[in-house]
Amino acid sequence: DAPEMVTPTGSPTGAQKSLNSQSGAYLTTAQGARLYETDHSLKAGPRGPILLQDHHLREKIMHFDHERIPERVVHARGAGAHGVFVANGAAAGVTKAGFLASGVETPVFVRFSTVVGSRGSADLARDTRGFATKFYTDEGTFDLVGNNIPVFFIQDGLKFPDVVHAAKPHPDREIPQAQSAHDTFWDFVSLHTEAQAHTMWFMADRGIPRSYRTMEGFGVHTFRLQNAAGETTLVKFHWKPKQGVHSLVWEEALMVNGADPDFHRRDLADAIEAGAFPEWELGIQTFPDTPDETFEGIDLLDPTKIVPEELAPVQVIGTMTLNANPTNYFAETEQVAFHPGHLVPGIDVTNDALLQARLFSYLDTQLTRLGGPNFAQLPINRPQAPVNDMLRDGMHQSAVHAGVAPYRPNSLDGGCPFLAGEDMSTYIEVPQELPASAKRREKPASFDDHFSQVRLFYKSLAPVEQDHVAQAYTFELGKCYEENVRKRQLQALANIDGDLCAKVAAGLGLQAPAPTVELAEPEPSPALSQLRGTWPLA
Ligand code: HEM
Repeated sequence: DAPEMVTPTGSPTGAQKSLNSQSGAYLTTAQGARLYETDHSLKAGPRGPILLQDHHLREKIMHFDHERIPERVVHARGAGAHGVFVANGAAAGVTKAGFLASGVETPVFVRFSTVVGSRGSADLARDTRGFATKFYTDEGTFDLVGNNIPVFFIQDGLKFPDVVHAAKPHPDREIPQAQSAHDTFWDFVSLHTEAQAHTMWFMADRGIPRSYRTMEGFGVHTFRLQNAAGETTLVKFHWKPKQGVHSLVWEEALMVNGADPDFHRRDLADAIEAGAFPEWELGIQTFPDTPDETFEGIDLLDPTKIVPEELAPVQVIGTMTLNANPTNYFAETEQVAFHPGHLVPGIDVTNDALLQARLFSYLDTQLTRLGGPNFAQLPINRPQAPVNDMLRDGMHQSAVHAGVAPYRPNSLDGGCPFLAGEDMSTYIEVPQELPASAKRREKPASFDDHFSQVRLFYKSLAPVEQDHVAQAYTFELGKCYEENVRKRQLQALANIDGDLCAKVAAGLGLQAPAPTVELAEPEPSPALSQLRGTWPLA
């Protein structure tokens, strides 16, 4: 009897077209040769030995031997979903991006992730979460590659390998797998105090989201938008979940991780399957594009700082609904390749030194992770805009290009014409004055304050969450072997908040140090509550 026909895979969004790998009514080899069985090797007699000529055996085992690809160097564990983004047109005045015009619907693919743990780690680790969105727009793919925390550990991407080396498991024992409870992590953040803001955000309850569906998302960096008139505006992107923002407390996370380490990916997939489609509003904070690139004294190129929403309200520009699960985890969630440099006309990057390093890093790592330069041809990565490039050949090339002269200009087949008008192109360089002496390994003085906003954030928390923060620092620092490291982090806490430092010091059985920097006590103000967005734990 012929085996049951296998249904070809297909994406509900049309983002994917299945290659011709599952068609026909019979099981075959990769060459289409029909098989009558696949359980027993070809042998000389019933007891062997196995014959080298058994192509099916060799092909099947060869392919299996190469099924794994390297996991992502960070954000290895993730879960994805398809959906749609509908713009409300509110951004049309500040950007010419076609997908942000009123009523335009754009297919999206989102991947949520933890940062530190490996592919097989547990979902409820205390960690930052990735929130990466691919918009398949008519003008090319736009990726918003963000996190669930609005600030980052470091101000310059040159330190990224260092912070990741510090956060990943110790090289000697490969412990801990997916937590921040270790010497190298606390060593790094207490020596590089610019990391204190990000650390406080995930020591707070946001470090353990209740669900991917109840997380905010942030583009973190400042981006530059450009409208049809050529005017520019600086913006920060925010995702606000319509489900509200919710977290679990540490004890709940411990139990859930034990009972169901796949809790977050199961929750997302189950909700979508049940028709409870999660939704987020996309919003922007806008700032005038002034030469100093600051707003209310906050340096917009410093990714360790937020701009409180009281000073620059988040304006909603559209809504995203996730309405379909991936058909195949590997093909979609694992092979998707996000990049902060995937931009469309009307959206550009800024000189944020963290963002600039990312522009190199993602393409570079994907070259290895996805096996060569043609990963944009993978179904999940294919743009839904027409592609007419002059890239050719390379490992895993699956396009059959026509024409003889992939260069411009050429006198043989003409090559591709350019769009009429430079302003129609995606990469519009906004002319900027550069300082006379360009080569400098230094940072602006405005990057020096590492504590004021951390204090502001801590003060904004409800008392119960402040207790959670103290417990989290005590627990995590309690796992450090090096007393020097614990003491240095206590010093950073003393500079942030004396009470918090005292609580953690008592928990660790250490003396609370005196602060080494004097910070003004923040005034109680609505800005504090707005720092927390739609918090807390209702
Ligand atoms: C992966 C966010 C900074 C290098 C990711 C992912 C997210 C993310 C969400 C997962 C993408 C996915 O789901 O496939 C961020 C944010 C940053 C930041 C919000 C700062 C604001 C950096 C920096 C670097 C970097 C500074 C390097 C200089 C990487 C690499 C990957 C990655 C190499 C793996 C990409 C892949 O294998 O496809 N990041 N990241 N990131 N990030 Fe970042």
